[in-house]
Amino acid sequence: MNNKRTSFSSSIGFVLAAAGSAVGLGNIWRFPYLAAKDGGGLFLVIYIILAVTFGFTLLTSEIAIGRKTKQSPLTAYNKINPKFRWLGTIACIVPMMIIPYYSVIGGWVLKYFVTFITGSGKEAAVDGYFTSFITSDYEPIIYMAIFLLATAFIIYLGVEKGIETVSKILMPVLIILVVGIAIFSLTISHTDDAGAVRTGLDGLKIYLIPSIEGKSLDDIIIVIMDAMGQLFYSLSIAMGIMIAYGSYVRDEDNLMRSINQIEIFDTLVAFFAGVMIIPAVYAFMGTEGMSASGPGLMFISMPKIFQEMGSVGTFIGIVFFLMVIFAALTSCISIMEAIVSSFMDEFHISRRRATVFETIIALAIGTVVCLGYNKLYFEVSLPNGAVAQILDIMDYISNNILMPIVAMATCILIGWIVKPDYVIDEVTKTGSRFGREKLYRIMIQYIAPIMLAILFLQALGIL
Ligand code: PHE
Repeated sequence: MNNKRTSFSSSIGFVLAAAGSAVGLGNIWRFPYLAAKDGGGLFLVIYIILAVTFGFTLLTSEIAIGRKTKQSPLTAYNKINPKFRWLGTIACIVPMMIIPYYSVIGGWVLKYFVTFITGSGKEAAVDGYFTSFITSDYEPIIYMAIFLLATAFIIYLGVEKGIETVSKILMPVLIILVVGIAIFSLTISHTDDAGAVRTGLDGLKIYLIPSIEGKSLDDIIIVIMDAMGQLFYSLSIAMGIMIAYGSYVRDEDNLMRSINQIEIFDTLVAFFAGVMIIPAVYAFMGTEGMSASGPGLMFISMPKIFQEMGSVGTFIGIVFFLMVIFAALTSCISIMEAIVSSFMDEFHISRRRATVFETIIALAIGTVVCLGYNKLYFEVSLPNGAVAQILDIMDYISNNILMPIVAMATCILIGWIVKPDYVIDEVTKTGSRFGREKLYRIMIQYIAPIMLAILFLQALGIL
C-alpha cells in the first residue's frame, strides 16, 4: 500500500509546491504591515532569526513526519502513536475550517483582478466599493465558487500532474512579478496636496533601517511575538499541510536541502512584498497609510494607490492582483490537498471522490461565510478585542486556538514521546547531514513548546 503512494517527481517540484503553500496572503498583506509597525529592520532581523530556529524546527518535524509515515495528517499521528489520534483529527479540522474562508478571500482577489483587467480599476478606488461588493447578494458567492472549483480541479489532477505542474509554473512567475512591482515601487515620487514630496526610496528606508530608539523591553517582546505568529502562519505549519506534502517526497531526496530552500523562498517573497508595498504606500499615503493591513490594505488602500499612479496604475493593478491570485491559489491548493489526502487515507476512497466530497462541503460553508456579510450579518467581539463576523471567527478559532494546540502537541509527541531522533533519523537517512541538530533537539523539547504556549495565551487574551 505504501509503495503505491504517488510522489512529487522531483525535489524542486516539492520545494515549489511547499513554497507555493507558504507564500500566500500572509506574505503580502501582513508581513509588510508588521515590519513597518515593528521597527522595520528590527522586525526583519528577529523574523529571520526565528525562521532559522523556531520555523525550521516545526517545518522539519512536519515534513519528516509526512515522509516517514507516508500518511496524511488525519492518519499520520495515529500511526506514530495511537494515543495521538485526536491530534490528527484536529490537524484535519483546521484546513477544513480554513478552506471556505480562504476561498472567499480568493474570490475577492479574483473580483479585483477582473475589475482591473476590464478597465474599471477606477471604481475600485472609490470609498465604499469594497464594502458594497462583499455585502452584495450573489457576486461574492460566485467568485468564491470559481476560485474553489479551480483549486478542486488541480487537486483532482493529482500530486504530480496537478499540484507539482501548477507550482512549477506559477511560483517562478510570481517571483518575477513581485520583484518587478518592487522595483517599480522604488521609482515612485509623489507630491501630495500640501506640496510635500515623498519618494519610494524614503519608504524603503522606513522598511529596512532598524529602529530601536525608544523601544522598551516590552516593545521588543511584542515584536518577537508578532514575528513568531506571522512565521507560524506563513510557513503553513500546524494544519497538516506539510505532513501531506512531506508524504509525497521521495525517500531518496535530501530533506534538509529542500527545507532550507522552502524557508528561503518564503522569506524572500515576504521581504520583496514589503519592498513592493511599503514604498508605494508611504509615497502616496504617508506614514498614516501604513497602519492598514489585511483586507483593508489589499482591497481599499492598494486600489487607491493604483488610481493615484495614473495610466500606469491600471497595468500595475492587473499585475498585482494576478500575482496575488497565484499566491492565494497555490496556498488554497495545499489546504485542499491536506483534506483530500486525509479522506483518501482514512476512508480508502479515490482522489476523485474525496475531492468532490470536500468541494461540496467547502462550497456550502463558503456560502455561509459570504452570507456573513449579508443576510447572516452579526458582530461579536473576540477575546483579542477585534470585532468579528463569521469569517473572522473562523480565522480566529483556526489560527489562534487550534493551530497552536496542534503545534504544541506535535512538539510534545516528537520531543518527549517518540524523541527527536525520530525526525533526525528520517532526515539523515539519505546520508545527508542534519545541520543545527543540537538546536533542533533543544527547540523541539523546550523552547518551541514554551514559545507556542505564550503565543497561545496571548491570543486568548490571558497574557
Ligand atoms: N502560508 C500562507 C500565507 O502566508 C497562508 C496559509 C494559511 C496557507 C493556511 C495555507 C493554509 O499566507
